Amino acid sequence: MPATSVQPASRQIFVTTALPYANGNFHIGHIMEYIQADVWVRAQRMQGHEVHFVCADDAHGAPIMIAAEQAGITPAQFVANIASGRKPCLDGFHIAFDNWHSTDGAENHVLAQQIYRDLRDAGLIATKTIEQFFDPEKSMFLPDRFIKGECPKCGAQDQYGDSCEACGAVYVPTDLKNPRSALSGATPVLKKSEHYFFKLSDPRCIDYLEKWTHESGRLQPEVLNKIKEWFAKDEHGQGGLSDWDISRDAPYFGIEIPDAPGKYFYVWLDAPIGYLASLKNHLDKIGVDYEAYINNPAVEQYHFIGKDITYFHTLFWPAMLHFSGRKTPNAVFVHGFLTVSGQKMSKSRGTGLDPLKYLKLGMNPEWLRYYLAAKLNGRNEDVDFNPEDFMARVNSDLVGKYINIASRAAGFISKRLGEKLGAISDDGLALLSLLQAQMEPVAQMYNERDCAKALREVMLLADRVNEYVDLNKPWELAKQEGKEARLHDVCSTCIEAFRMLSLMLKPVMPDLAAQVERFLNIEPMRFQAGLPLLGAGHPIAEYKHLMQRVDTPLLDALFEA
Ligand code: 2FM
Ligand code: ZN
Repeated sequence: MPATSVQPASRQIFVTTALPYANGNFHIGHIMEYIQADVWVRAQRMQGHEVHFVCADDAHGAPIMIAAEQAGITPAQFVANIASGRKPCLDGFHIAFDNWHSTDGAENHVLAQQIYRDLRDAGLIATKTIEQFFDPEKSMFLPDRFIKGECPKCGAQDQYGDSCEACGAVYVPTDLKNPRSALSGATPVLKKSEHYFFKLSDPRCIDYLEKWTHESGRLQPEVLNKIKEWFAKDEHGQGGLSDWDISRDAPYFGIEIPDAPGKYFYVWLDAPIGYLASLKNHLDKIGVDYEAYINNPAVEQYHFIGKDITYFHTLFWPAMLHFSGRKTPNAVFVHGFLTVSGQKMSKSRGTGLDPLKYLKLGMNPEWLRYYLAAKLNGRNEDVDFNPEDFMARVNSDLVGKYINIASRAAGFISKRLGEKLGAISDDGLALLSLLQAQMEPVAQMYNERDCAKALREVMLLADRVNEYVDLNKPWELAKQEGKEARLHDVCSTCIEAFRMLSLMLKPVMPDLAAQVERFLNIEPMRFQAGLPLLGAGHPIAEYKHLMQRVDTPLLDALFEA
């Protein structure tokens, strides 16, 4: 008989997370996004797909230039200092980007200028003299983020000059009500200067984006609903998409606009291009042709982002790519914000949960991965970190339900049963086939980024296994004469079940899974149809306790001011 493969063909996938501004260390919001993407990437790889997973520092813009000046160093040095702190934190949380680059890298300069020229050739760049806020005390045009005032759409106080954290509106600083300079406190004055615009209001862009955003699978329904508001015009024909100001005047830390002396790309123009630049930098390092890869229609491209930057990624970015003759993302995956005990965090204000402190305290990074994954459902909804809930989920679910299965069975196998698995009878096989049958649905839940559902399913299965243990009581079998074979049967069932649960948890807890692979003497676990059992005679190593419980003093220390 010819061999047939049940494996779906291996896909080629390019994945990014949003590029963090290089003006501060990671906060817990960054880490949540990286964990969400990392879990998804690992689940894809466990299904045999090839993934390139990249990120970079978002290096440009006036805030970084100003911070560098205040620190008495060049912006490049400032960015390098921040970049040097990235790796320990990423490694610490087992976030395995294939590459970390910078939007100030040479690749990004070339790509941004190329994309700009292509957009200009397509007739989508215009110039216009505009009046802009100028700080009379500092003698410079004020960057968006250095003007604060009230949101022109919803009236929220203390909003930045480019977008509103309360309602998500994107606007120009001169739309703000009661503006003030965040550098000097002065009331800014208006001054004229020529600016370059991307003509997002061009009917070609609008038609294209209306279609693109509505295509099935591109965007979550709740995200699409928001975007529909941005397309909408009012009864006076006002509103809808407007042209986008993509230039900034010197002094500015950024990429020079071709044929426009003294003008630089606004940081948000070259930031998403940084995705491609980091990919190119990565592919160059591993000897893969970037042009061939990125132009291959079979390559799928996905961006994980937070809800505050939806406009940039679902309107500007696909339009820039399409009208410069490039392939657009297959989908943009939007997540909500992270709150800590119900408290909202903002980019500038942070929260009480410092990821570096978490690591310094020696807290297990996979507790956090598990907890956040258990709360992420793939929808654009906020996620709350609650310390009591965190402790309960780790201690009762992870340790109490899952780890417990191995610790209840492994000792007997290594001490009494010759360190090998034994034959399993029908009741054990019935339990195991229940787990086997859930393997593919769980993989599918990861694919849909519904980690919460996947982990709920795994914990329900762990409950079933624990019921089996409680029913069969290996600790009593161990005391009874002539029950050695049944003890072996029951413990082997537990170990086989533990392996399947570990496989389903592996995208979330890769380090724990690696320990399990060593304990069970097995190859790296991956999702596969009809996973065979390890079987009677399979040798296992000595069991070492796999995970500690969280305790209150540790959590208190984490949140201590
Ligand atoms: O909002 C931010 O933190 C930006 N630095 C994200 C940029 S994402 C991409 F476009 F680079
Ligand atoms: Zn608003």
